[in-house]
Amino acid sequence: MTVANQPPHQPGGLLEGKVAVITGVGAAETIGAVTAAVFVKEGAQILAADISGAQKDTAIALGPAAVPFQADITREEDVEAMFAHALETFGRVDILVNVAGNPGGRRGDEVTVEEYESLTSVHLLGTLLTNKHAVRVMAPAGGGAIVNFSSAASFNTDRLISPAYSAAKAGINSLTKSYAVHYGPQNIRVNAVAPGFTMSKKNRGLPPEIEESLSNKAALARPGTPEEQADVAAFLASDRASFVTGVVIPVDGGWTAKLA
Ligand SMILES: NC(=O)c1ccc[n+]([C@@H]2O[C@H](COP(=O)([O-])OP(=O)(O)OC[C@H]3O[C@@H](n4cnc5c(N)ncnc54)[C@H](O)[C@@H]3O)[C@@H](O)[C@H]2O)c1
Repeated sequence: MTVANQPPHQPGGLLEGKVAVITGVGAAETIGAVTAAVFVKEGAQILAADISGAQKDTAIALGPAAVPFQADITREEDVEAMFAHALETFGRVDILVNVAGNPGGRRGDEVTVEEYESLTSVHLLGTLLTNKHAVRVMAPAGGGAIVNFSSAASFNTDRLISPAYSAAKAGINSLTKSYAVHYGPQNIRVNAVAPGFTMSKKNRGLPPEIEESLSNKAALARPGTPEEQADVAAFLASDRASFVTGVVIPVDGGWTAKLA
């Protein structure tokens, strides 16, 4: 399902009346864009943030419940401005979904310092800064929910996955637990989704042998869809998950259940 063919907002949805800041809302078929569409369908108003500029078209396609915002989550001034804009536009922030990430990285003997710095700054520093400023606006308002995007590669790894990416995603799991423990008393829940191989925009057009190999990693022997990631994020962000915090949920078709 794309942004365009998501059903419009359905009254009585899972996120009715909530305000969410969502990062990584890129072009159609990115997990962030589909998450934005699912949140609007479920009744949320959203600030759709990305570094690329693609958030503008994605927000326009979603209608008045979505407002675009340009932000680089590795820059603290951008992150502060993002939450200030959400407060100014909607009056409060109930939810942060931090989907933004960058792919790539080479094997252990070829990894470069630039690659390490780029992966750790977007995944680790970006998660730290977005979570920091989310709790700053949520705590005085009585609470909220944060969903970070980790990866199945944060638990264990594979020769197809770069060590720097796995390490950065493992750091997201740690930050998720820390923020959950530190801010639980302020009624802020913090969880993470750990996707397995998912057919988002960037994975369309992979060489067929790589696509097949990654698809077969899952017990279900297929890639996930962006909607399957977005639906779990929506549940974790919703009041239906009111006693769930500090967990990292694999959404991987059973990849991490396997011995190899
Ligand atoms: N697709 C998969 O198979 C898969 C598997 C495991 C984890 N994930 C994670 O899920 C998330 C989304 O995946 P995707 O496949 O849609 O990725 P993607 O690369 O297509 O989209 C990521 C988005 O983040 C944005 N972004 C990158 N750096 C940014 C920054 N500094 N500030 C703000 N925005 C920034 C990009 O512009 C892009 O729109 C990522 O965190 C990714 O690591 C994806």
